[in-house]
Amino acid sequence: MSYPYQIKSLEAYQQAYKQSIESPENFWADVASHFHWRRKWDKTLEWNFTEPKVEWFKNAKLNITENCLDRHLKNLANRPAIIWEPNDPEEHHRVLTYKDLHYKVCQFANVLKNNGVKKGDRVCIYMGMIPELAIAVLACARIGAIHSVIFGGFSAQSIADRLQDAQAEYIVTCDGAYRGQKDIPLKNVIDDALIGCRFVKRVIVCTRTRTPVSMLKGRDVWWEDEVKKVETLGMFDCPAEEMDAEDPLFILYTSGSTGKPKGVVHACGGYMVYTNYTFVNVFQYQPGDIHFCTADIGWITGHSYIVYGPLSAGATTLMFEGVPTYPDAGRLWDIVDKFRVNILYTAPTAIRSLMGFGLGPLQGKKLTSLKTLGTVGEPINEEAWHWFDEHVGKGKCPIVDTWWQTETGGILISNMAGITPSKPSWATLPLPGVQPILVDDRGEEITEAVDGEFKGNLCIKAPWPAIIRTTYGDHERCKKNYFSTYPELYFTGDGALKDEQGNYRITGRVDDVLNVSGHRIGTAEVENAINMHAGVVESAVVGYPHDIKGQGIYAFVIYNGGHGDDNLQRQNILQTVTRIIGPIAKPDKIQFVSGLPKTRSGKIMRRILRKIAENEMENIGDTSTLLDPGVVEEIKNGKL
Ligand code: WT7
Repeated sequence: MSYPYQIKSLEAYQQAYKQSIESPENFWADVASHFHWRRKWDKTLEWNFTEPKVEWFKNAKLNITENCLDRHLKNLANRPAIIWEPNDPEEHHRVLTYKDLHYKVCQFANVLKNNGVKKGDRVCIYMGMIPELAIAVLACARIGAIHSVIFGGFSAQSIADRLQDAQAEYIVTCDGAYRGQKDIPLKNVIDDALIGCRFVKRVIVCTRTRTPVSMLKGRDVWWEDEVKKVETLGMFDCPAEEMDAEDPLFILYTSGSTGKPKGVVHACGGYMVYTNYTFVNVFQYQPGDIHFCTADIGWITGHSYIVYGPLSAGATTLMFEGVPTYPDAGRLWDIVDKFRVNILYTAPTAIRSLMGFGLGPLQGKKLTSLKTLGTVGEPINEEAWHWFDEHVGKGKCPIVDTWWQTETGGILISNMAGITPSKPSWATLPLPGVQPILVDDRGEEITEAVDGEFKGNLCIKAPWPAIIRTTYGDHERCKKNYFSTYPELYFTGDGALKDEQGNYRITGRVDDVLNVSGHRIGTAEVENAINMHAGVVESAVVGYPHDIKGQGIYAFVIYNGGHGDDNLQRQNILQTVTRIIGPIAKPDKIQFVSGLPKTRSGKIMRRILRKIAENEMENIGDTSTLLDPGVVEEIKNGKL
C-alpha cells in the first residue's frame, strides 16, 4: 500500500491546503481516486448549509469493507490487520491478518443475513473491546446494515432510548466484558434494556467472560452457534453489498446541550475517504507501522482511528481490551514494548492519570519503537503535554493534538507529525479541506486581535467529506443544532483562540456540554437523571476544573424527603444517575441547596453556579436581577 496523497513537507502542506480551498472538488476527487469504487461519481460535491444538504461523490457506488479488506488481499493478506491485547496480561494476545479478518467478517456477515438482517436495517452493537466487536462492525458494513455501537458503560435505560430512536431490531452483544478489575455483565444490561421492548427480533451473544446469562427462546442466539450454522450451510464468502456513497454507514449517539442524545449519521463514501486521508497524514503512518489507539470503539475515535481509518490504509491496528492502570500503571508502556508500537494515540485524561503515578511505572520500559504520539478528546494542558513528550516520547516523537468531534467524523485541526510544527496545548493548523472561522455571538467574523490572539466561537465555512449528514430520524434537529446558530456556518459548540500564524487553540465548549475524561455529557441530561430521583425538586448541573478528568460534574440539588444523612442521599442520587445514564455521568459533587439562582422569568443563572463551582466567588458579577439574590450567599457558604 502506498499513499500518494501523503504530505511529506511543510511546503507540501501549504500547497495542498491552498489547492483544497481553491478547488475542493478537484482536491478530494484526486484523493478519492486512490480507493476502490464500484462506480465513479458524477459530481464530487454538492452542498448547502441551509437545509443542510451535503453530498460527496454523488452517485458513486462502493463498499467500505472492500476498501478495508478485499483490496489488501493481493499484497497484504498475511499482514496483521488487528493485534488484540487482552485485559489480563497473562492471557494470550491474538493476531488477525487481513486474510483472517476478511474471512471472519464475511462469516459474520452471513450470520447477520441468516438472522434476517438486511441492507438499511439498524444493528445495535454493545460489546467489550474484543476483535469480534470490530468484526461485527465490519460485517454490518459488508451487508449495508447501519451499525450503532453503544459504549459498554451506558445503562440499560440509555440503551433502550437509543434502540427506540434508531428502531434497531437486531443486537450484537457479549455475555460480559473485562475492563480492569471489573466484569461488566453486558447481556444482563441488554436484558434490562429489552424489558417491554417488543421490536427487537434477535440478540446475538458472543462468549467472552462465561458469565451466566439468560437466553430467551426465539430471540437470543449464540454467536458461536450461528457461525457453525453458516459453515454447515457452506456460506463462506459474502459478496459486499453495493452502497451509494451517501448511504448511511453508521449512527453514533452523542450528547448535546439539550435533552436526549442524538444519533449522528455518517455516510459511506466521504467518511471512508476522510478517515483514511487524516489517518495517513496526521500520524504519518508508514507501511508496517503498528498503530495503537487507546480509545474504545464505542466512541467516534475508535470508529475512525481503530477501525476504518487504519484498515482502509492497510495498517496494523492494535486493539486493547483493558484500561491503562490495570494490573498497574505501566500497562500501556508494556504493550508498547511488547508489540513495538510506533504510533500511540490517547487522551489527555489518561496522561494526567498516569502522571499521578510518578515515573516508577515507566522504569525499565524501553519505548524505543515509538515514532508519533497523539492526543484527542479535550484540550491538553501544558504540563501533561511536556510529561508525555519527555517521559514517553523521550523528546524524539512529535505529538499531534487532534481536534475533532463525533459530528466531524475525522480530525479537522491538528499538526501533522513531524511535518507541520507543534505548539504545546494548541491543536495548530486546519487540515487540507478544512476552513475554520471564528465568530462573535452575533455571527460576525472576529477580525481584531487582542495581544496577538483572535478569540471567538469556532465554526467551519464549508463541508469536508466526513461532515455529519443528519441526526437520525430528525433532520430538523441537525439543522437547529449545527447550522442555525450562525447562518451558513457549521457551528462546533467550541470556543477557540487563533494566533497570528493561524494556529488554533481550542478552549472548550461554549454550550451546556461537559467534557469529563474526554467523554461528552450534556448538563441537561444529567439534570434530567437527577430529577428522576424521588425527593429531588430541582437541580442544576455545571462543570468545574478537575485535575485528572479535565472537567468534573457539580450538581446543585433541591431535595426534600428521604431518610438517612446527606451522604446516603448523595449515594442514592448517584445510583439513580447510574441507572438512567451510566456511571460516566455520576456527579463528582452534590451540594444540597434550598433554592437556585433564577431570573425573574424563571431561568437558572448557570453563569453564577459555574463561578461558584469554579471557586471564583469574587467574580460572580451582578446578582441584582435575581428573583432571590439571598440564595447566592447561601450557596456560596455551602460550597463543597
Ligand atoms: C468535543 C467533541 C473526537 C474525538 C473525541 C471526542 C473536545 C476533542 C479536542 C482537542 C480540545 C477537544 C471539543 C469537541 N475536543 N478533541 N484536541 N482539544 N478539545 O469527541 O465526544 O464528539 O467530543 O471534544 O470540545 O467539541 P466528542
